[in-house]
Amino acid sequence: MKKKHETFSGKYAWITGASSGIGEALVYEFINRGAKVIISSNDEQGLERVKAACGGRSSEIICVPFDLSDTSDIANLVERQMKIIGKLDYLINIGGISQRARIDETPMWLDRKIFEINYFGTIALTKAVLPYMISHKSGHIVATSSITGRFGFPLRSAYSASKQALHGFFETLFLENKINNIRTSVLIPGRVRTNISFHALNSEGKEHGKMDEGLLNGITPEKAARIIIRGIKRNKREILVGGGELTILYIRRICPWFFFRIADKLKST
Ligand SMILES: NC(=O)c1ccc[n+]([C@@H]2O[C@H](COP(=O)([O-])OP(=O)(O)OC[C@H]3O[C@@H](n4cnc5c(N)ncnc54)[C@H](OP(=O)(O)O)[C@@H]3O)[C@@H](O)[C@H]2O)c1
Repeated sequence: MKKKHETFSGKYAWITGASSGIGEALVYEFINRGAKVIISSNDEQGLERVKAACGGRSSEIICVPFDLSDTSDIANLVERQMKIIGKLDYLINIGGISQRARIDETPMWLDRKIFEINYFGTIALTKAVLPYMISHKSGHIVATSSITGRFGFPLRSAYSASKQALHGFFETLFLENKINNIRTSVLIPGRVRTNISFHALNSEGKEHGKMDEGLLNGITPEKAARIIIRGIKRNKREILVGGGELTILYIRRICPWFFFRIADKLKST
């Protein structure tokens, strides 16, 4: 693994969604820059694979699998890790799941499941970690939204809503904790070539099982990870991650009528 400037030497990061895609690529960036990393997802074997891929630096990784949709024991889980590491510098919430189902086909239990993973899972871990960061008067917490966390989009009702909710939570977290020197960044990815559409849930709660055409033109997870690291180092509160597709964000903000004329015609699968 190619070594980079050790900007994160001596720092601890906790990365969720670390078993694939953007989260996995971020693990390698942090490790290459000298950090020690706790990695989480619901896929224990996937985490072990990522750890093994870190080669000589795999001893700097601790695997902590847990399900974001069941965070009833999260305070104990965080306490155990904090006893081991002492201080956490970065919490990088990447884990999440997408949706490919119209509103009229989506049962309420599925809306709730997507919110449990994307919103409640993320804020539960954040709330469990926050008191430790406050006690050290330092820390940086990252959450992952989406461009569809900035507007509604066909087949993504619960996904879009769960990501929009994260903006409200993390803006509040920032405002309440400026005094505690806690920094926050919200990632707004456009299209990144990962398995996100493959694992997206259909109206039955099963995997969509297809790679969306649009995603094939997305940036690589490695490029996404480099953009994210740059944004974190610059302490940006919002980090746009993607290519030309991000233009839609400006259209939505500056020319909403045009957005609503075209958005339902954009490819949603
Ligand atoms: N790729 C894009 O174009 C794009 C665009 C906008 C936003 N995003 C956001 O970026 C983040 C990362 O997605 P990705 O593109 O890297 O997709 P990915 O390759 O599918 O990765 C998703 C990660 O989230 C984890 N995860 C999903 N459900 C979980 C659960 N119940 N408990 C614990 N972990 C869970 C997965 O682990 P398991 O193996 O355990 O399921 C996996 O590590 C997501 O929040 C996604 O919404 C991605």
